[in-house]
Amino acid sequence: MSTQSMPILSPAPRAPSHLFYQTRLRRPLVDRAEGIYLWDQSGNRYIDGSSGAMVVNIGHGNRHVIETMKKQLDKVTFAYRLHFENEPAEDLARRISGYMPDGMDKVFFVSGGSEAVESCLKLARQYAIAIGEGSRWKVVSRFPSYHGSTLGALAVTGYAALADPFKPMMKEMPSIPAPTAYLDRDSLSMEERGLRYADTLEEAILAEGPDTVLAFIMEPIGGASTGALVAPDSYYGRIREICDRYGVLLIHDEVMSGAGRTGRFLGGDHWNCRPDLIALSKGFGSGYSPLGAMVAPTRMVQPVLDAGGFQHGYTYAGNPLACAAGGAVLDEMERLDLIGNAALMGELLKAELINLAKRFPFIGDVRGKGLLLAAEFVEDRATMRPLPKAKNAFQRVVDIAYDKGLIIYSRRTRGGIDGDHFLVCPPMIVTPDEIGEIAAILGDTLEQLAGELDLPVNG
Ligand SMILES: Cc1ncc(COP(=O)(O)O)c(C=O)c1O
Repeated sequence: MSTQSMPILSPAPRAPSHLFYQTRLRRPLVDRAEGIYLWDQSGNRYIDGSSGAMVVNIGHGNRHVIETMKKQLDKVTFAYRLHFENEPAEDLARRISGYMPDGMDKVFFVSGGSEAVESCLKLARQYAIAIGEGSRWKVVSRFPSYHGSTLGALAVTGYAALADPFKPMMKEMPSIPAPTAYLDRDSLSMEERGLRYADTLEEAILAEGPDTVLAFIMEPIGGASTGALVAPDSYYGRIREICDRYGVLLIHDEVMSGAGRTGRFLGGDHWNCRPDLIALSKGFGSGYSPLGAMVAPTRMVQPVLDAGGFQHGYTYAGNPLACAAGGAVLDEMERLDLIGNAALMGELLKAELINLAKRFPFIGDVRGKGLLLAAEFVEDRATMRPLPKAKNAFQRVVDIAYDKGLIIYSRRTRGGIDGDHFLVCPPMIVTPDEIGEIAAILGDTLEQLAGELDLPVNG
């Protein structure tokens, strides 16, 4: 396909399905995938401009990963961890520790992001009990944010549309505003705003009673719910200081921002962060196998094990096939320097998005790091007032791009209630030519969106 967008051929009529998902939306049946592309069964090609749900970091159809998994399939695919240890899990845990901040040397495998977050919440709680601080149970989180769909992870998620129906079933947890400094129209510098947002954590801890607060959970670089939110630099260190002051554990949810996507292995590495617990998933298994992990320091794991053990676990955790896939994904990240490429290609793509913002004044902000990038729509840049909710721009932009052969990802920006943004996060193998192709289709998409929703375009 050239840089011209190509209309998608109508898929063949389909029989009613016995499957159901979140909505009635039907999509074509996928046929195959390679590199940054997917094909449906009618032969249409799509650029995977969101790496699925920011998952397929190393791209589709990687031969080394597939061959490694085939070899593992021939040896053993599942051996329950209470019956056997396995080498792929041992190797992967050792290698992952090498990418972590000092002292983060213990790995607990899981099969996804929600499981990784649940594990962090539970280890934090058991650690507090083990060291005689059982009064601590509250986990402060940010609004908006996303930490997963299971009830524990949802209780610390700030996205009203997802959480509201389940509120009676969850323990209410305190939250503070996410550091949306780009929206502020005060006279403070970005650095001052960063400190002010961080200080809301201290206020929340004091209001709740410091001896009841267990942990603070945050995405170092935001994901779908905020549209790749990056806090001012001053925020990160101040958060650590406040957690230390009150004995509150700091949990970094790196499920989306980790595994190299932002141009460093961890999003928090951009600020040399030292969290107490880290949740990983998505790009860690890169879509080849469900895989996630909680990473913790020995100083937290030891007291829990000494006190009788960690009362938590999942059947599929640490199985040899998933861990072999994870090891092979790391091999490819290292061999092809994909983290370096994510940093470089991220710069190119961000520059393209900034160019699009010149043409389309309804883009109010472009943000993110590496290949975790987003653009937010507004009605008025001066006030950052969102587009009218009824226009549903966040859904329409995805559908228009899809019809032109580009997959992007979107959500509402303001806590799931209001606002629109889209994320563009291609696999970390993306090339400069492919970035050009993505930008051209995005330009056509935004042109059509502007026409349909009566939004301004600069000539
Ligand atoms: C930051 C973050 N945490 C947790 C999750 C939950 O991961 P999963 O959908 O694999 O359970 C996600 C998923 O999007 C995420 O972005």
